[in-house]
Amino acid sequence: MMVDTSTLGRFHHQRLEFKRCLPAIITSHRTLFTVLWIAAFASVFIWQRNVVVGGFFLFGRTLPPRPIPKLRPVAFNLTDFGGVGDGVTLNTEAFERAVSAISKLGKKGGGQLNVPPGRWLTAPFNLTSHMTLFVAQDAVILGLDDEKYWPLMPPLPSYGYGREHPGPRYGSLIHGQNLKDIVITGHNGTINGQGQTWWKKYRQKRLNHTRGPLVQIMWSSDIVIADITLRDSPFWTLHPYDCKNITIRNVTILAPVTEAPNTDGIDPGKELMINSCEDMLIEDCYISTGDDAIAIKSGWDQYGIAYGRPSMNIMIRNLVVRSVVSAGVSIGSEMSGGVSNVTVENLLVWGSRRAVRIKTAPGRGGFVRHITYRNLTFDNVRVGIVIKTDYNEHPDDGYDPSALPVLRDISFTTVHGQGVRVPVRIHGSEEIPVRNVTFRDMSVGLTYKKKHIFQCAFVQGRVIGTIFPAPCENLDRYNEHGQLVKHSASQNVTDIDYDF
Ligand SMILES: *[C@@H]1O[C@H](CO)[C@@H](O)[C@H](O)[C@H]1NC(C)=O
Ligand SMILES: *[C@@H]1O[C@H](CO)[C@@H](O)[C@H](O)[C@H]1NC(C)=O
Ligand SMILES: *[C@@H]1O[C@H](CO)[C@@H](O)[C@H](O)[C@H]1NC(C)=O
Ligand SMILES: *[C@@H]1O[C@H](CO)[C@@H](O)[C@H](O)[C@H]1NC(C)=O
Ligand SMILES: *[C@@H]1O[C@H](CO)[C@@H](O)[C@H](O)[C@H]1NC(C)=O
Ligand SMILES: *[C@@H]1O[C@H](CO)[C@@H](O)[C@H](O)[C@H]1NC(C)=O
Ligand SMILES: *[C@@H]1O[C@H](CO)[C@@H](O)[C@H](O)[C@H]1NC(C)=O
Ligand SMILES: *[C@@H]1O[C@H](CO)[C@@H](O)[C@H](O)[C@H]1NC(C)=O
Ligand SMILES: *[C@@H]1O[C@H](CO)[C@@H](O)[C@H](O)[C@H]1NC(C)=O
Ligand SMILES: *[C@@H]1O[C@H](CO)[C@@H](O)[C@H](O)[C@H]1NC(C)=O
Repeated sequence: MMVDTSTLGRFHHQRLEFKRCLPAIITSHRTLFTVLWIAAFASVFIWQRNVVVGGFFLFGRTLPPRPIPKLRPVAFNLTDFGGVGDGVTLNTEAFERAVSAISKLGKKGGGQLNVPPGRWLTAPFNLTSHMTLFVAQDAVILGLDDEKYWPLMPPLPSYGYGREHPGPRYGSLIHGQNLKDIVITGHNGTINGQGQTWWKKYRQKRLNHTRGPLVQIMWSSDIVIADITLRDSPFWTLHPYDCKNITIRNVTILAPVTEAPNTDGIDPGKELMINSCEDMLIEDCYISTGDDAIAIKSGWDQYGIAYGRPSMNIMIRNLVVRSVVSAGVSIGSEMSGGVSNVTVENLLVWGSRRAVRIKTAPGRGGFVRHITYRNLTFDNVRVGIVIKTDYNEHPDDGYDPSALPVLRDISFTTVHGQGVRVPVRIHGSEEIPVRNVTFRDMSVGLTYKKKHIFQCAFVQGRVIGTIFPAPCENLDRYNEHGQLVKHSASQNVTDIDYDF
């Protein structure tokens, strides 16, 4: 049964709370209570499930399946190539035959592959240019969870390393290289990586290579990923690498959230991992994950500096994200090719450890600049805004510690929320000061009324207008009319407290 992990999590939580007060309420009526509780839980659960999955639900009957639109001159059905959607039959060859047929249609506008309702088990396969993969309502593409069927590929050149293991890495379930004009869409059908087996093997150290992503597209352009659900990826869920002109819209990304931070969690990996990409729009998505919901990167130390491709011109808007152990939207820490011109707006981060984060370290080189955050809402997050410059994790000893990243021109406008413990922690250093940071219109409800919760070190910039909680002394103060009220004489003062 398909269940929204986040919904389950919330119910689980409520159930635990209920259980805790149970002994106090009943002694003799235990059985009756339990029966009533199960009935109530089940009916709410069923109702919720139908709201989430069906959209329409009338007396146990769902509406007939939505007809599949024709988005290319030629459309195929996976069954035309021998596909069987029984959840058991392996469909790798059916997918490969379909892709091969579509690859011959490029000059005629390409082709569409419809994946009809059913459960379509497959090993990894490659896409082709001018292709639309359409995953129908109630269709699930299931990733085969036996690594023997997953091809090995060279490490990402800007990483020089398989990330989890040296040497080659597993490719992705759905993969593409050097392509143009790719669409992955549907009526909210699902691509399910069946990551459970992978996570278990990873924890037990039974894998010899870095796990494979769910969807990975490299060195390609004109990509649209829309109206689908991606879940339970073995590793990164959606990974454009050195791509140009990408739209990701109305996509749901789900992975189990770990309830206990810092324990040996499930660690499925960053959900939307962006590497060295240019001209990208991400909008109207819901991401709930065990790691960063979105991570924007551009290569690791000397490998990233040599590869030299920034991530730039990225717009992220209208997103709801949750990251129990990491951050909602992260930039870095691997940012050695540079990251610039990123806008994040209308973002709601709930029930998370951190909301937005920029992280780097000496050795990275590169830059993070022209980053604009607008209209952020934090709902029960531990730390709201984080900038960290000592994220000392390196691929090998060959990095150059004098390659210092530049962090500058970062602005936060309209930041609200409630239940936040530390709203701001900007930890610049003497080597890597953070320059030209602007805060305007900020008011965040706090968990604890403590003095030093707007924490700063080595940061230069300003606050404009009313800011709550009171900003650190490192920043200049301006009034609503943009007039300087107080010039800071203590940009380099350190007031960072990780214990709080
Ligand atoms: C798509 O399906 C997922 C998983 O079933 C669900 O959580 C999400 O709300 C659906 N998205 C839309 C836009 O209906
Ligand atoms: C695809 O094939 C299945 C099984 O033959 C059929 O039920 C379905 O109607 C076909 N869909 C389209 C869009 O042709
Ligand atoms: C997909 O293409 C890449 C690059 O050509 C190749 O390394 C990989 O083996 C292919 N994957 C499959 C499943 O054929
Ligand atoms: C998002 O996807 C859902 C499910 O496919 C669809 O019903 C809805 O119209 C889409 N929303 C937008 C804005 O495209
Ligand atoms: C990993 O390598 C070891 C030693 O070479 C080998 O015995 C084992 O089968 C390999 N495991 C996998 C999953 O490939
Ligand atoms: C970007 O990709 C979309 C979708 O393929 C395409 O319609 C559009 O023309 C592309 N834009 C540019 C500037 O190439
Ligand atoms: C910055 O990125 C946006 C897309 O988010 C783009 O429209 C704009 O042209 C970029 N600005 C520059 C100076 O490249
Ligand atoms: C701010 O973002 C929230 C979603 O997080 C949205 O509901 C609201 O409309 C946005 N406000 C503006 C002024 O765009
Ligand atoms: C500071 O950053 C803002 C954007 O946040 C930019 O418009 C401005 O030009 C920058 N100022 C300097 C002196 O670089
Ligand atoms: C603060 O530190 C920066 C670089 O770390 C340095 O350039 C600057 O002169 C220092 N400012 C003061 C007032 O000491």
